[in-house]
Amino acid sequence: MSANKESYDQLLVIFGASGDLTSRKLLPAFSELFSRGLLPDRFAILGAARSDFSDISFRRSRRQVLKGDRADEFLGKVYYLRFDPADPRAYPKLAKRIVRLRGELRLPDRILYYLATPPSMYPVIAQGLLESGLNVPEGEGGWRRIIVEKPFGSDLETARRLNGLLRGIFAEREIYRIDHYLGKETVQNILVLRFSNGIFEPLWNRNYIDRVEIRATETLGVGNRGKYYDGAGAMRDMVQNHLMQLMAFAAMEAPAVFEPEPMRDEIVKVFRSLRPYTAQRMDRDIVRAQYRGYREEKDVSPDSTTETFVAMKFYIDNWRWGGVPFLLYTGKKLDRKESEIVVRFKSTPQRLFAGQCSGSSCNKLTIRIQPDESVSLGFGLKMPGAGFRVKQVSMDFRYDSLSHNYLPDAYERLLLDAILGDSTLYARSDALEASWKIIDPVLRHWAEHPSRGLRFYTPGSQGPEEALALERPDDSLLCEEN
Ligand code: BG6
Repeated sequence: MSANKESYDQLLVIFGASGDLTSRKLLPAFSELFSRGLLPDRFAILGAARSDFSDISFRRSRRQVLKGDRADEFLGKVYYLRFDPADPRAYPKLAKRIVRLRGELRLPDRILYYLATPPSMYPVIAQGLLESGLNVPEGEGGWRRIIVEKPFGSDLETARRLNGLLRGIFAEREIYRIDHYLGKETVQNILVLRFSNGIFEPLWNRNYIDRVEIRATETLGVGNRGKYYDGAGAMRDMVQNHLMQLMAFAAMEAPAVFEPEPMRDEIVKVFRSLRPYTAQRMDRDIVRAQYRGYREEKDVSPDSTTETFVAMKFYIDNWRWGGVPFLLYTGKKLDRKESEIVVRFKSTPQRLFAGQCSGSSCNKLTIRIQPDESVSLGFGLKMPGAGFRVKQVSMDFRYDSLSHNYLPDAYERLLLDAILGDSTLYARSDALEASWKIIDPVLRHWAEHPSRGLRFYTPGSQGPEEALALERPDDSLLCEEN
């Protein structure tokens, strides 16, 4: 935060304030920012939701989700309005409450809205804000911004429609589409690792890299989210957003400057270079599966064909990456919770030590996103003693070895960015549409053939065995026929 904190004074309105996201992520993140002195001096949160709370009872009900000795002081900045987003009469009341709060707290005409409601409410709320004039500032110096949670659409068509609607109400620069993976320190570090070190970038291309693996696995199942998840599945829940963003960070060119537009230009170029999935490739390069017992989960259809696991092979057909597979894996109820990017380098041309390293080469760079946040470079070393036996070793950096090792939660970083008006780590509409464009045909194919190719895996396992087959070298031609 710059020295001039005053210019960031603002009001935050959270729609869906009594929901799970607000309690689990938003309030703890704001409270942490507050206790670190990072929130503007004049800052208030107005929670708006259907449940019946007063300011006091809302604060009291959220107290247990907050840690730290300044939590009560922080809660003093939180207000509540009972608000039904589907009721047009609710918006003038909201407008009145905002005016009153601004007057009492001497807040400027700057409002950040946060849509933490079910996605079906996004258009309704945006429309309500438009009709009550709450989408535009009253005069010079004021502004409006809106943060939209994922899922942003459920396919290309709905994402476009939502983009169109929001852009008719707010300017693109005012729309912040959040993907919490981009708020993770270790994800941002991918860019620093690549672009601040002279040693990686010269090797970071198809001449030296054999394949890139991107993994985000979880041990938990769908829990109480069956209703949402059964309609979404792993592809919409994880691949189209989090995993594809990780891929973009690993694959993009360096922007000229770390500013929102140049940075997001590079991301969109990656998505636009992705090789489209033909029907043949969908069967060969994508494995989808469901954990056994999923159909018995709460709010899940007993004959559901929703995937809880996806493994897929992407190709980025550009000069840097042509022919290098990017293998993405994600799944619920697997044997471990871990997110990482593994860059596997090609093996040496010489056969001297062939077969002594696992896979094709001794060299891999592992960027561990969570947990045990770290970066490690694997290479082969001679085993001491007679002969020339190769041992695989690694050079490791662990985040917990830093003396200043506080890793802010992803939401802390992203919320602070939105407060400061920095959208670099938020998704732009064209990138979002470009990513849906790749995923859309696959989703349609699955909808047309719901059971075809759907595998099942045992909870606590590594997922379906078929996923491993994706790692085998691909002999197919670089340019496929459609
Ligand atoms: C969310 C998904 O966006 O990301 C969840 O909706 C998933 O299903 C979560 O569990 C994973 O996030 P993280 O930060 O725990 O890897």
